[in-house]
Amino acid sequence: MNPDNQAMLSSFTLPNGVELKNRVVMAPMTNFSSNSDGTVSDAEVNYYARRSSGVSMVITACTYVTPNGKGFHGQFSGDKDEMIPSLTRLASAIKEQGAKAILQIFHGGRSCPPELVPNGEIVSASDVPAVRGGESAEESALKPRPLTEQEIEEIIKAFGETTRRAIEAGYDGVEIHGANGYLIQQFFSPHSNRREDQYGGSLEKRMTFPLAIVEEVQRVVKEHANPAFIVGYRFSPEEPETPGITMGDTLTLVDTLADKGLDYLHVSLGEFFSTARRGVEDTSKTRIEYLLETIQNRVPLIGVGSIYTADDARRAFKSGVPLLAIGREIIIDPDWVQKIAEGKENEIVTEIDKTKQNELVIPDPLWNAIIHTPGWFPGV
Ligand SMILES: Cc1cc2nc3c(=O)[nH]c(=O)nc-3n(C[C@H](O)[C@H](O)[C@H](O)COP(=O)(O)O)c2cc1C
Repeated sequence: MNPDNQAMLSSFTLPNGVELKNRVVMAPMTNFSSNSDGTVSDAEVNYYARRSSGVSMVITACTYVTPNGKGFHGQFSGDKDEMIPSLTRLASAIKEQGAKAILQIFHGGRSCPPELVPNGEIVSASDVPAVRGGESAEESALKPRPLTEQEIEEIIKAFGETTRRAIEAGYDGVEIHGANGYLIQQFFSPHSNRREDQYGGSLEKRMTFPLAIVEEVQRVVKEHANPAFIVGYRFSPEEPETPGITMGDTLTLVDTLADKGLDYLHVSLGEFFSTARRGVEDTSKTRIEYLLETIQNRVPLIGVGSIYTADDARRAFKSGVPLLAIGREIIIDPDWVQKIAEGKENEIVTEIDKTKQNELVIPDPLWNAIIHTPGWFPGV
């Protein structure tokens, strides 16, 4: 092995003793391609199989835990036991290619399109609308209904139930999706959470919902799985709105999560080397540096964001992150890890080739989203 790639290609042992064959994981990416009954589609299964032999772990697109948490057209369902065979198909396709299969579990909250949820009623921590397409949906039909305490408890339980289904379906683990502005983040955010009960108010109280989900998922794992089952947690470090989550808020959350016996934390970033916006003293320091400093090796951190070349990855690992996720890049080049491992990094493709949808095994809805969204993927 090229010694420069040691940090990327050497194995890594998670806190629960599970060994990952290397340090590169596939980032969770929604593909809009599941069947209308909530089952995974053949095209989607093939897309995952094509990308599961190089990386050590594949984190799936997020699955919703309750019907009112469905956040995307063509999202697969994890909200009922009838879905276990569908969930099993996806886990098996990933594991057969040699990667660990991690199911990302999610509730979209106020970000759900009303046409996807029962009675078109979107729910959240409070009645603050999401900012959609750059504009706030102030006073519009998209104003969410605040969840009652009983409903909150039901959603916490639903995260546990979907975890049980993941266990029964043969997944190696679950990732709690606390990032990207969805329900869990909506509870942590002072923008979307204006509650005055046990779930809102102070920073500590805004952590109640995320921490209750961690606890419930871990309870279910203890009851239904063996200790090799992986539980990770994903978070977004900052929000642009005021009020909104600051880097300082996130360091408090991460400091708490680092002692919860999780197997990894996973930051959600568009740029690995991005610097903190506010809420910390030194805004020239990268968010990753702040996170690693706070975590102090108590739990592994997965970094992510615009890593396209082997050089990008080597630089990222120099920061000290033990694990790195690649998203868009593994869609663009499914053989990214293998090319590095085989000394062929010059052959890595870093822009989407618009003539190669079939060769790249990309389902139509994802392909259409990519090629019709200028600036999202390199080459478009
Ligand atoms: C098509 C697409 C779908 C995504 N869906 C999810 C998702 O379901 N869950 C999630 O946590 N992040 C999602 N993300 C964010 C990625 O996991 C990742 O953080 C982001 O793309 C930055 O990494 P990259 O530069 O390697 O692509 C998605 C990104 C893309 C491009």
